[in-house]
Amino acid sequence: MVLIKIEKLSKTYKKGENKIFALRDINFDIEEGEFVSIVGKSGSGKSTLLNILGGMDTCADGEVLFEGSNILKMNERRLARYRTFTVGMIFQSFNLIPWRTAIDNVKLPLMFSGYPKRLRETRACELLYNMGLYKRALHYPSELSGGEAQRVAIARALANKPKIILADEPTGNLDTSTSADIMALLQMFNSKHNITIVMVTHDKETAYRVSHKTILLSDGEIIKTTTNVRQ
Ligand SMILES: Nc1ncnc2c1ncn2[C@@H]1O[C@H](COP(=O)(O)OP(=O)(O)OP(=O)(O)O)[C@@H](O)[C@H]1O
Ligand SMILES: [Mg+2]
Repeated sequence: MVLIKIEKLSKTYKKGENKIFALRDINFDIEEGEFVSIVGKSGSGKSTLLNILGGMDTCADGEVLFEGSNILKMNERRLARYRTFTVGMIFQSFNLIPWRTAIDNVKLPLMFSGYPKRLRETRACELLYNMGLYKRALHYPSELSGGEAQRVAIARALANKPKIILADEPTGNLDTSTSADIMALLQMFNSKHNITIVMVTHDKETAYRVSHKTILLSDGEIIKTTTNVRQ
């Protein structure tokens, strides 16, 4: 079943007289339960595409259809619901709030979603426990290793049980073995919990290994789509 349908999606930036196409006529479907990788050189439009899918940027032409509604045209209220309940985002630089502990970072989306206050602590503990971080709950981000910080970010992204995880170079700041751990976690959530994943990576080899479909962007256009057979 198609979860998100992207049709004729374009995004331009004006630079003086010139128009820069960050994305140009992008068309593809994201199936429910699919693991999609987006690869391409720096500046090819990967983050732009991911931010649009996450409802972080609606200033674009075309359609991004989720359950039949174009997220580019949603009112603020529906868009806020989409961002809170449908997607979870993970970034290269983790984007944890530095002055909040690990557990408070995980509790934050539970506040936005109106999760019952008395249950937030338990839910956040459970999420950290599942990431093997129970003992790090009261640490601040500066007191965590890169791999631990990214696992806190994943716990935070999963807090409201999203349908889709959007990950922008999630292993870009991690060493090889920690990257493999994070990748294994993402694969596990995809295969065991059927969470749809869209991941940006510059590492084509990993993309082909972990994902069902790899989309290659160049200058804002899809120049190749590869369907992969996962090992
Ligand atoms: N605010 C902006 N104003 C003008 N141009 C922009 C702006 N943001 C992005 N761009 C341009 O849009 C294009 C796509 O940028 P994007 O960040 O999506 O690339 P990327 O593929 O994620 O690159 P990287 O691998 O370096 O993260 C680039 O050419 C960039 O210069
Ligand atoms: Mg980027």
